[in-house]
Amino acid sequence: MRRNFFLTFEGIDGCGKSTQAERLKQALMDRHFSVTHTFEPGGTALGRKLRTILVHDELNMSLFSEVLLFAADRRQDIDEVINPALQRGDVVIGERFADSSVAYQGVAGNVGQERVERLMDIVTSGLVPDLTLLLDIDPRISLARKTDLDRIEQRGTLLDTVRHAFLDMAAKQPERWVVIDAARSVDEVFSDVLEEVLQRLE
Ligand code: TMP
Repeated sequence: MRRNFFLTFEGIDGCGKSTQAERLKQALMDRHFSVTHTFEPGGTALGRKLRTILVHDELNMSLFSEVLLFAADRRQDIDEVINPALQRGDVVIGERFADSSVAYQGVAGNVGQERVERLMDIVTSGLVPDLTLLLDIDPRISLARKTDLDRIEQRGTLLDTVRHAFLDMAAKQPERWVVIDAARSVDEVFSDVLEEVLQRLE
């Protein structure tokens, strides 16, 4: 089934995005939707290289440089994966999109929310998800779920700020965002995720 629709998962590290995105992809395919699943950083060949630099390498990168690399990864994801899929009429499931840069670099990283929003508007050519599911969870719970923290671990104290940045963004745009309590079991969270998505697709 063809249904041009772009939905994203957002949330702090360890909130369960990948698990939920994978289950959603399967559930939609079982209902005969054509689905494309991507993630940032790293959904393309260029993105995989950028992800290594962004997540693993210790390069003393400035925060603004970091935003620009996330932006390059995002634009490549749009040009190579998201736009072609939307043009085919797929449901596109994205793990993270411009909102992550606004929350992590703009608000928590102090680059400035408005500045990152303006940059993201240019980088995405104004592409905005039809639906954004915020998997909301206390960082103390989500970090305990992760085993590969790397550079992210060092940002642990920032995650409270990131969490509240996402919640603020969701409150400001309730027509696009849905906040889901991600501290519950995978099945409980997924039942909400599927309901929200099917409501909009069917
Ligand atoms: P992931 O673990 O969800 O794949 O994301 C990798 C890390 O990159 C995670 O700590 C969040 C961070 N990130 C940003 O800081 N800004 C962004 O724009 C994106 C997409 C991710």
